[in-house]
Amino acid sequence: MEGSPHRRWSAVLRALCTFFALAVSSSAQEFLSIDCGADVGRTDGAGIKWLTDDGYVKTGMNVQLRTTEISTLSTARVFTEKRSKHCYVLPVQKNSTYLLRTIQYAGESTSTASIAFPVSFNVTVNNEVWYSFSGQTDRDRDTTFYESVFYSIQKEEVDACFVAGALGTPFVNSIEMRKLNPLSYYEVQRGGVYRFLVFVGRYNTGQPSNSSYIS
Ligand SMILES: *[C@@H]1O[C@H](CO)[C@@H](O)[C@H](O)[C@H]1NC(C)=O
Ligand SMILES: *[C@@H]1O[C@H](CO)[C@@H](O)[C@H](O)[C@H]1NC(C)=O
Ligand SMILES: *[C@@H]1O[C@H](CO)[C@@H](O)[C@H](O)[C@H]1NC(C)=O
Repeated sequence: MEGSPHRRWSAVLRALCTFFALAVSSSAQEFLSIDCGADVGRTDGAGIKWLTDDGYVKTGMNVQLRTTEISTLSTARVFTEKRSKHCYVLPVQKNSTYLLRTIQYAGESTSTASIAFPVSFNVTVNNEVWYSFSGQTDRDRDTTFYESVFYSIQKEEVDACFVAGALGTPFVNSIEMRKLNPLSYYEVQRGGVYRFLVFVGRYNTGQPSNSSYIS
């Protein structure tokens, strides 16, 4: 539950994409990839099916960004409506461990709407603050990602909400959710209370450094 580090290297992102691609499963409740702000769904080069926001969130508008090498970054969902929070309702199975990842990239907009800076907002998982996003200068417009592991208990859905702060409008470029092996991150399911873990670091414990799964 400590820290909210993020990385800004696309090499790291690529390695993570590979990792996510390996956790293959068929059900939407086990393997969900939302290309936030996209007008149409698509299947990427790794065979991952990216869905639009439709059915997962009711607020926000789609914004096109100047393309980068990773295509989920070419669109964002931007929450311009004056309301305190904007929630994605994600389907989960009960008593299951999930990995959740969001990516934010405030690139230059090619639509009429744009991502306003400075910006500050919180992202919550089931009403607990997962991370606080804050962007002050153009340097902060780079790619940022956050990961969390949570354990679903009684409900068959989890709310991931963008809570507007004092400045700007919340936004998000992608949301990915993967069901994990029940023995992974076992601590998260102890005690029968809702809890989640925040990504602090990932270490190479022996794989060759040229392995595509290690950043
Ligand atoms: C989830 O775990 C609780 C507590 O252990 C149990 O009572 C419940 O039956 C489980 N639900 C499912 C769907 O496995
Ligand atoms: C965001 O989270 C921080 C830390 O938990 C909290 O102090 C702050 O009040 C929250 N801001 C909003 C707008 O919810
Ligand atoms: C990775 O590194 C190991 C050890 O340096 C080497 O033997 C192997 O050929 C490399 N593999 C690739 C795919 O480059």
